[in-house]
Amino acid sequence: LKAIGISGTPGVGKSTVAELVSKKLGIPRVDLSRVVIERRLYTEFDEVRGSYVIDEDAVRKYLRDLYSSIGPFVLDSHYAEVAPREILEIVVVIRLDPMKLIDRLVARGWPMRKIAENVEAELLSVPTLNAVEELGEELVLEIDSTGKNAEIVASEALSVIFGDLPIELGHRIDWLSQLPPERLERVLRFIETHRG
Ligand SMILES: Nc1ncnc2c1ncn2[C@@H]1O[C@H](COP(=O)(O)OP(=O)(O)O)[C@@H](O)[C@H]1O
Ligand SMILES: [Mg+2]
Repeated sequence: LKAIGISGTPGVGKSTVAELVSKKLGIPRVDLSRVVIERRLYTEFDEVRGSYVIDEDAVRKYLRDLYSSIGPFVLDSHYAEVAPREILEIVVVIRLDPMKLIDRLVARGWPMRKIAENVEAELLSVPTLNAVEELGEELVLEIDSTGKNAEIVASEALSVIFGDLPIELGHRIDWLSQLPPERLERVLRFIETHRG
């Protein structure tokens, strides 16, 4: 077993699922966003976006060294694909119906504009496309978490990783073609209203 990446749009449940997977496997969980800040693995703070710009080389080196010293871990991040491919077993991208994601991020008290940006990213499969672009289809799989509690999502992740469930790699979930038209319409209207 190598490191397991858990990716996805903010709010889909990465950290919750990563914690459960790490407990079930008895391996540590690494929250990459936190590590980046604590170890200053960023180049600057982007004032406009309100987020750190990560130093990808420094992050890769940190994760490679960490893997050499502690072995496998669960890594959760919306940019999990920055991990070097040779230390990765798989990247699991958690997906969530964009309408549900709106509710989740509103509950978190995020500004509407930031919610709209992230809902747009989920609608367009940005985390999956980034992971596939960086690592190739053979290392990336998606789990639809809609209507499932985090325990179920974590056990599905373990099942696909360890082969009890058929593994469907690459990019399968596409809300643009899979959401019922009226639901898609509501999501698009939300984005248009708040995206600015
Ligand atoms: N499968 C799930 N069903 C319902 N709520 C969930 C689920 N997974 C996570 N949550 C809740 O959604 C919020 C965001 O989860 P979190 O794990 O912090 O997401 P992320 O790390 O992707 O930003 C938290 O309040 C969490 O308790
Ligand atoms: Mg998180």
